[in-house]
Amino acid sequence: MPTTWTPQSWRQKPISQVPVYPDQAKLEAAEAQLRKFPPLVFAGEARDLKHQLAEVAEGRAFLLQGGDCAESFAEHGADHIRDFFRVFLQMAVVLTHGASKPVVKVGRIAGQFAKPRSSDTETIDGVTLPSYRGDIINDIGFTEVARIPDPERLLLAYRQSAATLNLLRAFASGGYADLTRVHEWTMGFMKDSNAYPRFEELAQKIDDAIDFMRALGLTPDNTPSLRETKFYTSHEALLLGFEEALTRRDSITGDYYATSGHMLWIGDRTRQADAAHVEYFSGIRNPVGVKCGPSLVADDLLRIIDKLNPSNEAGRITLIGRFGSDKIADHLPRLVEAVKAEGKVVVWCSDPMHGNTVKASNGYKTRPFERVLSEVKSFFEIHRSIGTYAGGIHIEMTGDDVTECTGGGVAAITEAGLQDRYHTYCDPRLNASQALELAFLVAEELRLQRPARERIVAAE
Ligand code: TRP
Ligand code: MN
Repeated sequence: MPTTWTPQSWRQKPISQVPVYPDQAKLEAAEAQLRKFPPLVFAGEARDLKHQLAEVAEGRAFLLQGGDCAESFAEHGADHIRDFFRVFLQMAVVLTHGASKPVVKVGRIAGQFAKPRSSDTETIDGVTLPSYRGDIINDIGFTEVARIPDPERLLLAYRQSAATLNLLRAFASGGYADLTRVHEWTMGFMKDSNAYPRFEELAQKIDDAIDFMRALGLTPDNTPSLRETKFYTSHEALLLGFEEALTRRDSITGDYYATSGHMLWIGDRTRQADAAHVEYFSGIRNPVGVKCGPSLVADDLLRIIDKLNPSNEAGRITLIGRFGSDKIADHLPRLVEAVKAEGKVVVWCSDPMHGNTVKASNGYKTRPFERVLSEVKSFFEIHRSIGTYAGGIHIEMTGDDVTECTGGGVAAITEAGLQDRYHTYCDPRLNASQALELAFLVAEELRLQRPARERIVAAE
């Protein structure tokens, strides 16, 4: 079949999860403006990430992907970004040490604004209004006016993404991520956390290693890899009008790239092989993720993979499973077996958040930390038993000291404690302590993946 893809060819396909804008002319004007704005990321960077993910697919690196469920206009401050980034760095260092492999760092940030919803409307106390769909579309306030999709928000989301990315780039390469500053990434409130003593112990080992390297002549000044890190951005590319406007042709290769973020993923609700989202994704050359939930049948997954990656390029596809701690054993093995049997190269990643959402007795949407840990453990076990590589985790987290998921962390959060600092715009996130605790669990699993001889040496 001849290829007829264009950045707008998705418009001819059936689509779900789209907002209805009352003012079409205003929408078109906003999209026209976006088309003139500079790209947020470059094609070359997306290609670099794809190469790093190819290393993950081959079992030589590990993927850490995480950030807010939904970014918000209200929470856009330097402290929020910095606190996220320092916990993310802590996790990355724990994983790098556990795996003895590079960790590919991908934030769910600088563009994570649009949310798929299970219902088009929301009812509170007998009043029914359109659902909140993320700050790029409408406002979370429960009034009629707030819930009207407003095209102006596309431009605000673009500008916020640019500012966030700018700060992240400065942190990643401007000295903040320097391994000699590993102690500074710990926040005050984390000192009471279960994970804190383990982190300090690790930080001490890193200090020793750096002193040793310094004695050999390798310093952060003359060795950039000690001083800097590569940090990439990702989001669910739900709002295709926005993505289309930021899709650009790379002058070097002539290929199309989404320039709203380095990696984009398709949600579990919009992954139908013949629908609009897969169509759009099939023509961009970025690395892409596909969320895989319990309803995904293996044949459909293979069709999606063929459509997105006909040449079976390593690093192009990351499959992000989100089944639930009680369902992963029923669903992940059949998908892994099918993909393996067809010889498809993918990164297997676990999202242990979305299948473990429950309603607490007091009405809060929460996620029991034990279930999150349990799904991650099962993910590693399943890949070990099939002989495939458990390549990464994808989590909803924040650097803030929130109370959104129960259990774990500082003093285990109870259902009653959820009300203390429940700040999320959408799903409950791991707080800084819970995120770090999870990283230690994953590090233990990664240590098990190391070849036997290496493990004996490490244990001595
Ligand atoms: N450059 C290496 C990397 O990104 C080492 C490194 C520097 C690092 N700063 C870091 C690793 C912070 C984790 C966290 O992997
Ligand atoms: Mn979410």
